[in-house]
Amino acid sequence: MTHREIIQKHKPTRDNILNILHDLQDRHPQQYITEEAMDLVADYLNLTKSSVYGVVDYYSMLSLTPRGKYIIRVCISPVCHIKKANGVIQHLEKQLRIKSGETTADKLFTLEVAECLGQCQEAPSMMINDKVYNNLTEERIKEIISAYK
Ligand code: FES
Repeated sequence: MTHREIIQKHKPTRDNILNILHDLQDRHPQQYITEEAMDLVADYLNLTKSSVYGVVDYYSMLSLTPRGKYIIRVCISPVCHIKKANGVIQHLEKQLRIKSGETTADKLFTLEVAECLGQCQEAPSMMINDKVYNNLTEERIKEIISAYK
């Protein structure tokens, strides 16, 4: 499906901009929004290119750079922070051999941090694409990542 076809599935109203951008990102194999796609969105919604860029830049769930097939988002909000979210990030960095914000050389994983995922009772938590994982331990993180490889 082309960028144009994805965009045209949505009504051309400005309040649809986030739905369109998420759809474009989700359908891109590298999970990001290209400049060409932003230009098309601007034309479709009759917005300036800079305003579309501003929306993509503002929302942390949207990306302007190519990412891995699986986006890992580790919650760093207060409850997860108390429950050692930093340790979760360190285990993932060690296992994937990347730093937070980077993508593995095989383009499989991108590691990011996120605000509260609404899973505070079972912290620490992370998401891989749309799936949530709770009560994370080093052992559990190893199992989860292995299942994606
Ligand atoms: S603080 Fe991490 S899920 Fe709420």
